[in-house]
Amino acid sequence: MRLFILYVHILLFIFPSFSTSSSNFLCNPQDSNDLIQFKSSLTTYTNYACQEQPQKTATWKNGTNCCSWHGVTCDTVSGHVIGLNLGCESLQGNISPNSTLFHLSHLQSLSLSYNDFFGTHFHSKFGGFRNLTHLDLSSCNFQGEVPPQISHLSKLTSLHLSKNDQLSWKESTLKSLVQNATVLEELYLDETDMSSIDPNSLNLIFNQSSSLTSLNLQRSGLSGNWKNNILCLPSIQDLDMSINDLEGQLPDLSCSTSLRILDLSYCLFKGPIPLSFSNLTYLTSLSLVENKLIGSIPSSLLTLPHLTFLSLKDNLFISGQIPNVFPKSNRFQQLDLSGNKIGGELPKSLSNLQHLINLDLSSNSFSGQIPDVFDGLTKLQELRLGYNRLEGQIPPSLYSLSQLNYLDFSYNKLKGPLPDEISGFQNLGYLFLSNNLLNGKFPSWCLSLPSLGMLDLSNNQFTGNISVISSYSLYYLKLCSNKLQGDIPESIFNLVSLTTLCLSSNNLSGFVNFQHFSKLQKLDTLSLSRNSQLSLNFESNVNYNFSILSTLELSSVGLIGFSKLSSGKFPGLRYLDLSNNKLFGRLPNWLLGIDSLQYLCHDPTQIVTGARTNT
Ligand SMILES: *[C@@H]1O[C@H](CO)[C@@H](O)[C@H](O)[C@H]1NC(C)=O
Ligand SMILES: *[C@@H]1O[C@H](CO)[C@@H](O)[C@H](O)[C@H]1NC(C)=O
Ligand SMILES: *[C@@H]1O[C@H](CO)[C@@H](O)[C@H](O)[C@H]1NC(C)=O
Ligand SMILES: *[C@@H]1O[C@H](CO)[C@@H](O)[C@H](O)[C@H]1NC(C)=O
Ligand SMILES: *[C@@H]1O[C@H](CO)[C@@H](O)[C@H](O)[C@H]1NC(C)=O
Ligand SMILES: *[C@@H]1O[C@H](CO)[C@@H](O)[C@H](O)[C@H]1NC(C)=O
Ligand SMILES: *[C@@H]1O[C@H](CO)[C@@H](O)[C@H](O)[C@H]1NC(C)=O
Ligand SMILES: *[C@@H]1O[C@H](CO)[C@@H](O)[C@H](O)[C@H]1NC(C)=O
Ligand SMILES: *[C@@H]1O[C@H](CO)[C@@H](O)[C@H](O)[C@H]1NC(C)=O
Repeated sequence: MRLFILYVHILLFIFPSFSTSSSNFLCNPQDSNDLIQFKSSLTTYTNYACQEQPQKTATWKNGTNCCSWHGVTCDTVSGHVIGLNLGCESLQGNISPNSTLFHLSHLQSLSLSYNDFFGTHFHSKFGGFRNLTHLDLSSCNFQGEVPPQISHLSKLTSLHLSKNDQLSWKESTLKSLVQNATVLEELYLDETDMSSIDPNSLNLIFNQSSSLTSLNLQRSGLSGNWKNNILCLPSIQDLDMSINDLEGQLPDLSCSTSLRILDLSYCLFKGPIPLSFSNLTYLTSLSLVENKLIGSIPSSLLTLPHLTFLSLKDNLFISGQIPNVFPKSNRFQQLDLSGNKIGGELPKSLSNLQHLINLDLSSNSFSGQIPDVFDGLTKLQELRLGYNRLEGQIPPSLYSLSQLNYLDFSYNKLKGPLPDEISGFQNLGYLFLSNNLLNGKFPSWCLSLPSLGMLDLSNNQFTGNISVISSYSLYYLKLCSNKLQGDIPESIFNLVSLTTLCLSSNNLSGFVNFQHFSKLQKLDTLSLSRNSQLSLNFESNVNYNFSILSTLELSSVGLIGFSKLSSGKFPGLRYLDLSNNKLFGRLPNWLLGIDSLQYLCHDPTQIVTGARTNT
C-alpha cells in the first residue's frame, strides 16, 4: 500500500500532467470541500527558500474532481484523500484548531514543509491523523510545545519537523513518541528546540527503537555533560547530532553497528576517539569537525573498508604522525585532518588513495618532504597542505594532475625552483605557494594556466622577469616580495577581471604609464610599492577613472608628474601610500577631496592642508 502511495505521489509531483490517469475515481465531496476551505483560509507569499513555483493549489477548483488536483492523492476505492503534499507552496497563515485540514482523517501522508504558518501552535489535533505514515512539517514556522498527542501517530515511518526553531520538546513527549511509533524509520528534529531534554536521557528515549534508520538532532539546543553517552540504535544508518553543546566523551555506539553516516561535528566532545568506532565497519562518512578531541588518529579508523569521507578538522589531535596504513582497497574521496597538531612526515601510503578528490592536511605540524605520491591520485581536485613545516622540493608527480582545481602549499619551507614546463593543471583555478623559500626563475607556466583565477607566489625568492600572461580569468594576482626584475608585462593590462594586483617589494624596472591600470576597472587593490627602479608616470590632462579602487600602494616607486594629476577619479579610495617618493610641494586638492580616504601615508616633505591624514 505504501509503495503505491509513494508511486502516485511521485507521478503527481514530477509529471503533473499524468495525474488525471490516476483520478478516474471520484473524490469524496466532503474532502473536496475541506480542501477548498483549507486553501482559502491561507494566503500566499514569496518564498525564497523554494526553487519550484507554487502551482499545486492553482489546480484546486470547486466542482472538479479533487483526486485530479495537484498535491492530492485519493484512495482508489473510497475516494478519500489519503495524501496531501503542499511542500513549497508558499502558503502563509495560521492553521487554527478548527481548520478543515483536521477533517481529513484518512490522511496517510501529509507534507506542509517550507510554508509559513507563523504563530501557529503545533495543535494536538495533528495527533488525530491516526493513519499517518509520513508527516513532514519542516520549516513551517510552527511554535510552542510539541503536543503529547503526537505519540498517537503510531504508524509513522517518517517524521520531519526540521527547522522549526520555536518548536519545543518535552522529554516525556519524545519518549512516548519513539516508544509508540514502533515502525518509525526517519526522525528529523534538527533545528527544533530540545534544550529542555537532558542529554543523559537520550539513551532511555531511544533505547527501544530498533526501527530508526535516520536520526537528525542537528542544532537542536542539546547541551550539558553527556555522561550516560550510550546510544544503542541497532538499525541506525544516518545519525546527525552536530552543532550542539554536548560535552563529555564521544558517545558509545558499539551496538549501533549499522551506521553509514555519522556527524558529531561542532559539539564540545573531549577525549580520544573511542576504540569502538573501529567496529563501525559500514561507515561511509564520519565528521567530527570542531570538537576538543585529543590523542592520536587510530589506524583502525583509516582502514575502515567503506569510509569515503573523513573530517577531523579543528580538533586537538596531537599524534606524532598519520598512520602509514591506507590500504590499496580504500575508498576515500575526502580526507580532512586540518587544524590539528599532527606532526611527523606525510605517509607514503597516501599514494594508495586513488579515489581521493579532496585532501586537506593544512594547519598542522607536518615536517619533512612532501612524498612523491600523486601519480595515481588522478581524481584529486583540492589539495591543501598550507601552514605546516614541510620542506624540500615540490614532488614532480604533482604537476601532471589534470583535475586539480585548488592547490595550497603556502606557509611552509618549500625550496627550490619550480619546473620550466608542466603537463597538468589544465583545471587549476587556485594556486597558493606564498611564504615559502621557493627560488629560481619565475615559473612562466603559472601565468598561462587556462583556468587560473587566483595566484599567490608572494614572499618567495623567485628571480627573473614576469612572463607574458595568458591566464585571462585571473582576478587575484600576488607576486610581491620576490626578486623579480624587468618590466611589468603589457599583458597584465588585459586582465580585465583583476581585483587584486600586488607586485610590491621586487626589483621591477621600466617606465609605466599609470593610465594603463585604468583598463582594469574591477581593481580594488593595487600595490606597486618598493620597486625603486620603476618609473610611474602620471600624465596631466588625462581622466583617470578607478571606480572601485580602495587600496593604492605607491611607496618607494619613482612617481613622475604626480602633482600635475588634476582630474583623477578615485571615488572609493580608502588607503593611499605615497611615502618615500621624494615628492615635494602641496598634495593636490583632488586627493585631499576624496571623501572615502581613511589612511594617507606620505613624505614629511609633502605639504598637507587637510586634517584627515596619517603619516
Ligand atoms: C463548492 O460547490 C458546492 C456546489 O457547487 C457548494 O455547495 C459548496 O459550498 C462550494 N464550496 C466552497 C468551499 O465554495
Ligand atoms: C475558527 O476559529 C476562529 C477563532 O478561533 C474563528 O475566527 C474562525 O472563524 C473559525 N473558522 C472556522 C472555519 O470555523
Ligand atoms: C486507518 O487504517 C485502517 C487500517 O488500514 C483502516 O481500517 C481505517 O479505516 C483507516 N482509518 C481512516 C480514518 O482512514
Ligand atoms: C500509542 O498509539 C495508540 C494508537 O494510536 C494510541 O491509542 C495510544 O494512546 C498511544 N500511546 C501513547 C502513550 O501515546
Ligand atoms: C534498554 O531497555 C532494556 C529493556 O527495557 C533494558 O533492559 C536496558 O537496561 C535499557 N538500556 C539502557 C541503556 O537504558
Ligand atoms: C568490536 O566488535 C567485536 C565483535 O562484536 C567485539 O568483540 C569487540 O569487543 C568490539 N570492540 C570494541 C572496541 O568495541
Ligand atoms: C627581462 O626584461 C628586461 C627589461 O624588460 C629585458 O631587457 C630582458 O631581456 C628580459 N630578460 C629576459 C630573460 O627575458
Ligand atoms: C635591481 O635591478 C637592477 C637592474 O634593473 C640591478 O642593477 C640591481 O642590481 C638589482 N637589484 C637587486 C637587489 O637585485
Ligand atoms: C568610471 O567608470 C565607471 C565604471 O566603468 C563608469 O560607470 C563611470 O561612468 C566612469 N566615470 C567617468 C567619469 O568616466
